[in-house]
Amino acid sequence: MNRKVSKAIFPVAGLGTRFLPATKSVPKEIMTLVDRPLIQYAIDEARAAGIEDFIFVTSRGKSALEDYFDLAPDLEAALERSGKTELLEILRNTNMDSGTIAYLRQHKALGLGHAVSCARKLIGDEPFAVILPDDVIAAEKSCLQQMVEAYQETGGAMVATMEVSSAQTSSYGVLDVATENGRIVSAKGMVEKPAQGTAPSNLAVIGRYILTPQVLSNFDTIGRGAGGEIQLTDAIAAEIDAGRDVFGYRFDGQRYDCGSKAGFLQATVAFALARDELRDEFAAFLNEMHATKQAAQ
Ligand code: G1P
Repeated sequence: MNRKVSKAIFPVAGLGTRFLPATKSVPKEIMTLVDRPLIQYAIDEARAAGIEDFIFVTSRGKSALEDYFDLAPDLEAALERSGKTELLEILRNTNMDSGTIAYLRQHKALGLGHAVSCARKLIGDEPFAVILPDDVIAAEKSCLQQMVEAYQETGGAMVATMEVSSAQTSSYGVLDVATENGRIVSAKGMVEKPAQGTAPSNLAVIGRYILTPQVLSNFDTIGRGAGGEIQLTDAIAAEIDAGRDVFGYRFDGQRYDCGSKAGFLQATVAFALARDELRDEFAAFLNEMHATKQAAQ
């Protein structure tokens, strides 16, 4: 099969309950790290990896996402009139060409696997990426780009992976490792959210995938899995059962779990410190907070 990866699916149908009450009216993916919505980081990563077609699997209450990707002609005109060229540039960089984004709705919250399978008709017969915007990955070369390059060599199905503590494995998809070769891990099994103490390894699946249409066909036969949901992990594991290759890719980069409040705050601090215009003032503030806390102890 052709190994060019030009389509990506962004599952954005989740309710974001961990961020209530904010997510009552603001989709989680629009919440901002410094000044960019989570979804913008995901789009930028995909673009850097050569993705040309963006498929959003949404749900009720997510129309703010569609608005975000629309043009903002009044805003652009106002910025142009007032000569704010830098802001104009930032704004224009978020523009997406007409026809490059497709939105489709997952009508029932049946799980991540189900959300991905909703895009089946738009994928056709070529490999595709899946990006979970909750997982924000800061990296010199974008995580998905690293994977796309590795995939040119390996083929098969590929998931991003990283080591987590034994206490955390039950929150993730986890790889059962056959062999390892540098950053590439060959999997002989995959299990979604294993019960404490039963994980086959400490290598967790992180929200970047390169998959084949065959994985989508597997949804015809797999049932509900962990948590009573239709799991993407199970459809990928079915590839292994059918004798096809599944790889983990140990990416180079720092991943933030922006699906949790602590992870979101950590990402906010890290991304603020990475900004030239904020670094000094913000670092001084953090140092002061730290010193005050230590003095109080
Ligand atoms: C999802 C996947 C899981 C993966 C995780 C990465 O879980 O089902 O396999 O390890 O994303 O963030 P969720 O975080 O949606 O529960």
